Amino acid sequence: MKLEQILHKEELTKEEIIFLLNLTDNNDQQKLFDRADEIRSIYCGNEVHLRGIIEFSNYCEQNCLYCGLRKSNSKLSRYRMTPEEIIETARVISNQGIYTIVLQSGEDNYYDTDLIAYIIYQIKQNTNAAITLSLGERSFNEYREWKIAGADRYLLKHETANHDLYSVYHKKQKLEDRLSHLSFLKTIGYQIGSGNIIGLPMQSVEDIADDILLCKKLDVDMAAFGPFIPSPDTTYKNKTAGDVDLTLRTMATARIVLKKVHIPATTALATIDDEGRIKGLNAGANIVMPDLTPSPYRKLYQIYPDKKCINDNPLNCKGCLQLQIEAIGRKISSSRGDSLKLVEQMKD
Ligand code: 5AD
Ligand code: SF4
Repeated sequence: MKLEQILHKEELTKEEIIFLLNLTDNNDQQKLFDRADEIRSIYCGNEVHLRGIIEFSNYCEQNCLYCGLRKSNSKLSRYRMTPEEIIETARVISNQGIYTIVLQSGEDNYYDTDLIAYIIYQIKQNTNAAITLSLGERSFNEYREWKIAGADRYLLKHETANHDLYSVYHKKQKLEDRLSHLSFLKTIGYQIGSGNIIGLPMQSVEDIADDILLCKKLDVDMAAFGPFIPSPDTTYKNKTAGDVDLTLRTMATARIVLKKVHIPATTALATIDDEGRIKGLNAGANIVMPDLTPSPYRKLYQIYPDKKCINDNPLNCKGCLQLQIEAIGRKISSSRGDSLKLVEQMKD
């Protein structure tokens, strides 16, 4: 089948997804990006939603082989923001006109059920922002409590849909558990986000196709695909980084397959390519997730090195992004940017 026909099919088979992921010719690749951009404009319009991330703790009880926050990394200085600091940062973010706050940390049970619930409740009282939690795997009861406290969304990347690789990268954790957490979160009313890392050691293009299909099966509201960046003091410190074009092809193919989902141009993509954010926004993405963690903490959230904008003042971030986004004929949304599926349901 011709490329043009595949790009215009309603449903893609796994073989067709692999075909798109494997495109090498520059013209063909551009056709893929253009089609993804067209589908993005049909389903998401021209608005780009900003999600302001507060990385409030870099402690982590897990040991993912690729991540600089892993427990065994004794070289990293660890920090925890106080609830007051987190709540105040959220207030500053929403006053800037950013209406999603992402509370992100390693898996850190120091923040227990009540403390997280308190932070959520206070942020909801003080702002008009939606709250996304990105705290790793916690108990089902906690997910329930935090929903009641006002949390709207949960971001829990499946990282890889390949069971064997998942066990290699995570040792203690199982893919089945992660998937049951995602399903549970969806069942109790969270908008869910998942996704993978592109270019992890041993990963194949077929695995990436499975990642996209898994996002479809989970019926995610957001799908994030970011490149692997080797991080010092981790098992994979000497491995090769993920490929920028393969990441863009993944995002574009995901847009064609998943259609009505939010897709971010990730910070990891912006980190390995100066033009990464813009390339992503032109290949199917409609979300940017700036790191708005205050100093002195922001330098210490070292999942991978040289993170984009790490030395910038977070208060300047929105203005800077606005210039870039408007330069490509798009605009920053002034809404919360809820699930496109949810918005549709409410219209019915
Ligand atoms: N390169 C790219 N992404 C990474 N993550 C963790 N380590 C790396 C790395 N070395 C991503 C994971 C995780 C998120 C917090 O950061 O996908 O979900
Ligand atoms: Fe911890 Fe998340 Fe990093 Fe894994 S990816 S080590 S769970 S912060």
